[in-house]
Amino acid sequence: MRGNGPLSGTVPIGGSKNAALPVLTAAILFDRPLTIDHVPRLRDISTLLALLDVLGVRAARDDEALVLDGSNLTSSHAPYDLVRRMRASIYVLGPLLARTGEARVSLPGGCAWGPRPVDLHVLAMEKLGATVDVEHGYLVARAPKGGLKGGTIRFAVSSVGATCNALLACVTARGRTRIENAAEEPEVVALAEFLEACGARIQGHGTRTIEVEGTARLTPVRYAVIPDRIEAGTFLVAGAITGGELRLTGCRPDQMESVLDAVRAMGFEVAAEGTEITIRGSGPPRGTQIVTAPYPGFPTDMQAQMMALASIGSGVSVITDTIYHDRFTHVAELGRLGADIRMDGNTAVVHPCAGLSGAHVMATDLRASAALILAGLIAEGETRVSRVYHIDRGYERIEEKLRAVGADVERVQEEGP
Ligand code: UD1
Repeated sequence: MRGNGPLSGTVPIGGSKNAALPVLTAAILFDRPLTIDHVPRLRDISTLLALLDVLGVRAARDDEALVLDGSNLTSSHAPYDLVRRMRASIYVLGPLLARTGEARVSLPGGCAWGPRPVDLHVLAMEKLGATVDVEHGYLVARAPKGGLKGGTIRFAVSSVGATCNALLACVTARGRTRIENAAEEPEVVALAEFLEACGARIQGHGTRTIEVEGTARLTPVRYAVIPDRIEAGTFLVAGAITGGELRLTGCRPDQMESVLDAVRAMGFEVAAEGTEITIRGSGPPRGTQIVTAPYPGFPTDMQAQMMALASIGSGVSVITDTIYHDRFTHVAELGRLGADIRMDGNTAVVHPCAGLSGAHVMATDLRASAALILAGLIAEGETRVSRVYHIDRGYERIEEKLRAVGADVERVQEEGP
């Protein structure tokens, strides 16, 4: 890519990856086909579909909809080879236990930015009566005789994944389940609303305490995935960093308030109306302070992109990640583009720099790649981002969407190592 001045135009925002993953996994619970609209075409989605296929859930794209048929579930074994590609594969644990009474799911392992435990997922299953052992790198879980039964699950830490897994496991359990310190993220609410539409009885989603009255049988309904608040946030930063004017369509601004406020605090004009957001760039961003936190706080998944924006700021910015303390692999790569960022524990102090200049950089994970692409939009000269396959895990056709609003970016085949 070459830094190419302000972007302008309209960017359609796709369906949310993180909201789609648990909803697709719910297909394991149903003995008849489930139709889902607005499923983004992403590598993480294909990874989950490959895993579901191994379990016997067949997927077919029907125009824009995805049809998942779990009527012939054949296996409860989620192999390492697929699980290691994506941590969210752990979502199969709850529904497999619920439907078949057993699950053998590989431990996902760490991430580029450090260990990411699954103890809370295990705790949830145990509180529903299951036994869970670790054998040869696999979680081996068994439901009690008669199936999972309701219980009280109290999470020490707010976890999106563990809350979704608990919901997927308990909606068909016998009796009542109470999830305390539940995650309040829109993706959790979306999953609960989908399950409710299928007949589940859930209360309190979107708050810290969720209560579920088990229902023996759920009936799948056609469902549309909510818009991707992180994709929208990333394009918002693309508008800001290039000093351009972008209109983002098909969004849920009400689910992005912390991000809209953070961009406004840096001096940008951001307007939200209905399902649209517009951003107008004007001069370099002001220095700011950002601290990631569970929803409705500032999302850790937008931290890297905001750091790219802060790196061209007129003042000092201080960015702290309280969710993932090591999620800073983009710092060194932004530095190669000329950013002046100094780390102090889980806080990055971003100083004004003399301007970014194009370089060859390496993507290390999904959101870090997004940050590098954003920086490349304004770096002088050519920026080459290697290992860009990370971006395809979570952004659909990002280079096409950027080109459509004026960016000079292309995907090229890289030579082998
Ligand atoms: C989800 C998102 C991810 C986002 C993250 C935080 C998906 C597929 N991914 O990940 O993009 O960055 O939320 O918003 O939706 N934890 C434990 N034990 C567990 C599980 C989590 O200690 O068993 C800790 C984590 O280390 C972290 C915190 O809980 O410190 C929050 O993580 P969590 O919300 O679970 O993240 P994910 O669901 O994996």
